[in-house]
Amino acid sequence: MTLFWRKLAMAVTGLFLCLFLVVHLSANALLLLPEASAQPLYNGYSEFLRESPVIKVVAYLLYLAILLHVVYAALVTRTNQKARPDHYRARDLRANSTWASQNMGWLGVVLLIFIVIHLVNFWSRIKLGIGAEVGLDAAGRKDVYEVTYSLFQNPYYVAFYSVLMLPLGYHLHHGLRAGFRSLGFHHREGLRRLDRFSTLYAVVVALGFAIIPLVVFLR
Ligand code: HEM
Repeated sequence: MTLFWRKLAMAVTGLFLCLFLVVHLSANALLLLPEASAQPLYNGYSEFLRESPVIKVVAYLLYLAILLHVVYAALVTRTNQKARPDHYRARDLRANSTWASQNMGWLGVVLLIFIVIHLVNFWSRIKLGIGAEVGLDAAGRKDVYEVTYSLFQNPYYVAFYSVLMLPLGYHLHHGLRAGFRSLGFHHREGLRRLDRFSTLYAVVVALGFAIIPLVVFLR
């Protein structure tokens, strides 16, 4: 597969993941509501995710997108490193790119570690039945609200979830712009708007996810 197709695959999977994050943040923002309304809404949403056949297909597409994004990112990084002599690379990077664009690989690795720990946190109890048994709410649904709530009583997890939203923000900020460019978006005024939009998107998503654990902890 040529570099062009690899970058295209990264762009398509990355933009799909950006979309997922908007939906995921909207759902998790329910945790900011008062407990009496947050608990049934959050558990209802979580049950819908587990039961809907359509969402099951989307979830498998999501796992595939994460996997392909990581694999192609590694391949593109290796090709870029091989293609540029060291002295040229150092000069070129400083002159033409932002800190985030130079560190996308490391930011991505940090996020991958975050996602693995995040899934272990939730899936171990909700899907695999490891650790304390998940209780049922008043409507007889798995009390995923309680699983989240108890995780965010631990200050180390609160710090982990909040601080790692900084690399997420940087990764999204550069990733969104780069993704659209890889899809052939080169209109000058459009690119300026895209820059503003990607900044707004990255700040809202990163800040949104970062405040949820803090609010739950301080409640
Ligand atoms: C406040 C922060 C967050 C909370 C409270 C949260 C909560 C959850 C919960 C409860 C689940 C399991 C859903 C279920 O199986 O019922 C989940 C799944 C997931 N989360 Fe998060 N999440 C947060 C942030 C993030 C972030 C920042 C990312 C990515 C960078 C992320 C990526 C995922 C992925 C990929 C899944 C698997 C989706 C699935 O299996 O359907 N989450 N999250």
